[in-house]
Amino acid sequence: MGLGSCLHSPSISPQDFGYLHLRVSLRSPRRFKVGELSTFASLISTIIAGLISFGISPVLTLIIIVLSLPNNLVYGRFVKKIWEHFNSTVELNRKGWHLLWDLEHETHIPEHKISGSDRWIGSKALSIFMKQAGNEIAIHRDRIRGTIAGTLLNSVTYLLTPIFLISKVIAEEISVGQFTFFQSKMLDFSRDLDYTIGQVIDVTDAAVYVTYVKDLQELAPVIKSGNQHLISSRNNPPHIELKNVSFKYPNTKKFALKDISLTITPGEEIALVGENGAGKTTLIKLLLRFYDPTSGQILIDGIPLPKLSLEEYYDRIGALFQEYNRYESLTVKQNITLGDSRKQAHAKRITSAARQADAHSFITRLEKGYQQILNKSFTNGTRLSTGQWQKLSIARMFFRDSPILILDEPTASIDAEAEYKIFKRIYRFIQNKTVVIISHRFSTVRNASKIYVIQHGRITESGTHEELIRNEGQYAHAFKLQAEGYQTKEPVLEKAA
Ligand SMILES: Nc1ncnc2c1ncn2[C@@H]1O[C@H](COP(=O)(O)OP(=O)(O)OP(=O)(O)O)[C@@H](O)[C@H]1O
Ligand SMILES: [Mg+2]
Repeated sequence: MGLGSCLHSPSISPQDFGYLHLRVSLRSPRRFKVGELSTFASLISTIIAGLISFGISPVLTLIIIVLSLPNNLVYGRFVKKIWEHFNSTVELNRKGWHLLWDLEHETHIPEHKISGSDRWIGSKALSIFMKQAGNEIAIHRDRIRGTIAGTLLNSVTYLLTPIFLISKVIAEEISVGQFTFFQSKMLDFSRDLDYTIGQVIDVTDAAVYVTYVKDLQELAPVIKSGNQHLISSRNNPPHIELKNVSFKYPNTKKFALKDISLTITPGEEIALVGENGAGKTTLIKLLLRFYDPTSGQILIDGIPLPKLSLEEYYDRIGALFQEYNRYESLTVKQNITLGDSRKQAHAKRITSAARQADAHSFITRLEKGYQQILNKSFTNGTRLSTGQWQKLSIARMFFRDSPILILDEPTASIDAEAEYKIFKRIYRFIQNKTVVIISHRFSTVRNASKIYVIQHGRITESGTHEELIRNEGQYAHAFKLQAEGYQTKEPVLEKAA
């Protein structure tokens, strides 16, 4: 894979997770070395031919050197321009590739079909690539013009050399045999010089790529791990405390979270509820140290999170994100065992995780069962429904079996009966485990030992389900609305109107 395709590939911004972990393969470091070697060899042969040429005529040698320069200057300028062009249009290119991905990704096709959005996206992507191609063509045209002029100048060498040598033969300063030898050496020098300068430019060009890729790879993680150890053992959840935590996303002015204080004792099941954009996922991102709070502190077993060894901390956590991963090119089994790739992938452990996530029955109905690949573009591949994917990601979390479970909307795409079954198992499974759960379904959160209501980045209410219902606040209001939605025959919205 070339550097270009890495930069252009559509990917979720890695900065969002505090790390820049672009894995870029170089434009072949080996080629760079081979380039260096052949440059060195051609340099030696150029020097030898140059010395012979200089011995015959220093002035003509100087003329050869001067005449070879324009062509190479044109080439050097081209390399610089094309690099600057790619460098300055990385984001535009990325947008083009993103749009292409949006266009062709199979899950996007139904919406495109209905709304016709594919036409707009297609023409937008086309205009980006046409613009890019136009700019590149202009740079190449510039180069071709320069190269023609440079080559014409360079060909003067091929005219001057024989004229000069013939005059020497006529003046009987050299023999015809020497004429042939000197002619070939002087022209060799001109050609070798041209080649060597071209090679130097190529190596410099490769060096620019290498430097760029190195710069990318050497970017320090935004979040640096501490080295302190947790007090609690691997099987026991730690004590978690958020003290007056406020947070603004980088380059934004608005606080996504404001003055959050809460304690999660080991083994407690807490739920975060609130409307879209309230700040629930953001709180989880801080808890997972994808970002550090703008102010306030998060303490794990009394240790400030930045001082803690992140590797050790993450080892205690199983997280299921709102945007969970789907490893479509892998098998069902691999999708589950990736929950903890260090663990032995015993069939019993895998099926047990799948059973807990209510996934075993649909997996056994797949043609290849646990060995099924999950994308139709592979031989014998298949496609899962959204809910089946979600069950698989829950199975992955069960397989991980960590003392802290973080679930951000874990059952949004799962039907009510399956959700009931999964949660029954989660609550059975969570003996001596801390659970932080985000859900818009009250049936899921009502069993939590403490529920926090978040509104515009602040905790506005907290307590058990019963306490919050008694309070008759926002939670009770939202709960009633949802319950009515299940009970009433009339749509709630119509009733409100
Ligand atoms: N990476 C980001 N950069 C800037 N702002 C962000 C980023 N991620 C989220 N936000 C903003 O932070 C606020 C809280 O978002 P968050 O994702 O925490 O909401 P949420 O409560 O999880 O909502 P939902 O129920 O829709 O998942 C929103 O206003 C959102 O636009
Ligand atoms: Mg969210």
